[in-house]
Amino acid sequence: MKVNTAEIVISAASKKQYPSALIPEIALAGRSNVGKSSFINKLIQRKNLARTSSRPGKTQTLNFYIINDQFHFVDVPGYGYAKVSKTERAKWGEMMDEYFSEREQLRATALIVDIRHEPTDEDCMMYDFLKHYELPVMIVATKLDKIKKSQQQKQIRLIKETLQMDEEDPFIPFSAETGEGKEAAWRTILEFIR
Ligand code: GTP
Ligand code: MG
Repeated sequence: MKVNTAEIVISAASKKQYPSALIPEIALAGRSNVGKSSFINKLIQRKNLARTSSRPGKTQTLNFYIINDQFHFVDVPGYGYAKVSKTERAKWGEMMDEYFSEREQLRATALIVDIRHEPTDEDCMMYDFLKHYELPVMIVATKLDKIKKSQQQKQIRLIKETLQMDEEDPFIPFSAETGEGKEAAWRTILEFIR
């Protein structure tokens, strides 16, 4: 996929700020600091359009990016960051419900997990939440560069089993560092938005 243009449209804190354009959307979800913003940047070949950080909790609004005037990537704040107040956690929940339960343009969500670790309870809850709304999901197991090749199959099995993943959901081992899995990710996204 050749990306000619990629721009931020808006950082939305609530529903009334969502773009009104009726173009397809692909949302990102996953634990704080897992690599959601890095996934977007790698796919669109921009170093830091979606702002990344080694400090968790960088993304706190729904950030809409428009790609080739064709579709939106929606970067969503991560979950599972311990140092978050009850009030902030509740606000996060509302923001998620508001977006995922009603957004007509949403075609699929890329749930990003770390290939090195067993998915957490919150990862499982996020997966079940998306399934509950009958939203298509693709699983992206990122940071592939951080494990030995000999460990890959075992980790993939662990992730699929822990999430109790549907066999038909696309599963993409990925690295924002090396670009592995990038073509597979694009193929899957293009299927969802066509
Ligand atoms: P929040 O917005 O805080 O929820 O985080 P995020 O999920 O958007 O994570 P982000 O993309 O900011 O990445 C977090 C850290 O992980 C950064 O230091 C990235 O450089 C690093 N990182 C992301 N993807 C990869 C990867 O595939 N390989 C390696 N080695 N590091 C990665
Ligand atoms: Mg982010």
